Amino acid sequence: ASTAATSVSISGDISSQLHGGYSHPLARAWQAERQLTKSMLIYPLFVTDNPDEENLIPSLPGQYRRGVNKLVPFLRPLVAKGLKSVILFGVPLAPSAKDTLGTSADDPQGPVIASIRLLRRAFPSLFIVADVCLCEYTSHGHCGILREDGSLNNSLSVDRVSDVAIAYAEAGAHCVAPSDMNDGRIRAIKLKLIEAGIAHKVVLMSYSAKFSGCLYGPFRDAAGSTPSFGDRRCYQLPPGGRGLARRAIQRDIGEGADIIMVKPASQYLDIISDAKEIGKDMPVAAYQVSGEYAMICAAAKAGVFDLKTMAFEATEGILRAGASIVVSYFTPEFLDWLDN
Ligand code: PBG
Ligand code: ZN
Repeated sequence: ASTAATSVSISGDISSQLHGGYSHPLARAWQAERQLTKSMLIYPLFVTDNPDEENLIPSLPGQYRRGVNKLVPFLRPLVAKGLKSVILFGVPLAPSAKDTLGTSADDPQGPVIASIRLLRRAFPSLFIVADVCLCEYTSHGHCGILREDGSLNNSLSVDRVSDVAIAYAEAGAHCVAPSDMNDGRIRAIKLKLIEAGIAHKVVLMSYSAKFSGCLYGPFRDAAGSTPSFGDRRCYQLPPGGRGLARRAIQRDIGEGADIIMVKPASQYLDIISDAKEIGKDMPVAAYQVSGEYAMICAAAKAGVFDLKTMAFEATEGILRAGASIVVSYFTPEFLDWLDN
C-alpha cells in the first residue's frame, strides 16, 4: 500500500513547476543577483562658466546646464533623498574658453574645479566624480591634441589629459574618469597620482569600452562638444568590436584602473558581461548615455510604454549583465521611485 502512495507522489512532473518560485513580489525580487539601490547610481551634471545660468537642454528632457551658483540649491533636495554621487562635465560657454590644446580644462577658476571645491564643502558625504576629457575645451571638439593631419597625437594628449586628471583630483574629486580614449592614459594618470601623493585616496574609473556611434548626440548638444570636422571613430571603439573591447578592458585593468566602465549600456550588454568576467574582482560601471535616455523619454511620450516601467527594465537589464554602478540621467526619478 505504501509503495502505491509513493509512486503517485513522485510520478507527477515537477520540473515544469516554476510559477510558485516567483509568485510573491519579494520572491520575484530575489530572482535578481543584484537589485537596484540608490548607492549604485551616479548622476551626470553639466556645469557652465556662467555662474547664474540654469538652462534646459532641448535634446535632453528635464536636464539643465547649470552655473556654480545653481548647483547647491538644485542638489540639496536630491542629497536629502539619498543621492550618493554625481559626475561633473564642464561646459565652457565663453568664446575665449576653447583653443587647440584645451587649455581651460584645468583652469583653477573654471566650472569643474570650482564645482568640485564647492560640492565637497556643501555636501561632505557626496561622492564627486570628474569626467576627464578635452573635447569640451578644444576648438576642434576632439578628445585630445591633434597633429597637422587632424589625427590624435597620442603622447601629447596623454600628457595633457593626465595633467587635467591630477588637477581635478587635487581639487578634491573622489574619482577621476577619463573618457578621452587615448591609449595609455590610465597608466599615465595612475603614475601622476602616485607622484602627487594622492593615489591612495582617488578612485580611477576608466571609460574602458567606449563605443563610437550616434547615442552621444544630446550630450554633445549639452556640452557643445561636437567635433568641428571628422568623427571619433579612430579612438572610440567600433560597435562590432567585442574582442577589441575585451582587450581595452584587460589593458586598463593592467594599467591600474580601479573601476572599468562600458558605454553606451543597453546596446552593449554583452560587453558589460565580458567586463564583469574579465574584471571579476572589481566593480563594473555602465553609462546609460544621453541618446539612450532621450530615446526612452521620447518613446514614453509617444505612448509606446510607461516611462517608469521602462526606466526600471532598462536599468535592471544593465545590472543583470554585470554592472553594479550605473551612470543615469534617471537618477533623480529613481530616488523617488526606489522609496515606493
Ligand atoms: C566626453 C564624453 C562624452 C560622453 C561622456 N564623456 C561625449 C563623447 O564622447 O562624445 C557621453 C555621455 C552621454 O552621451 O551621455 N568625451
Ligand atoms: Zn571627449
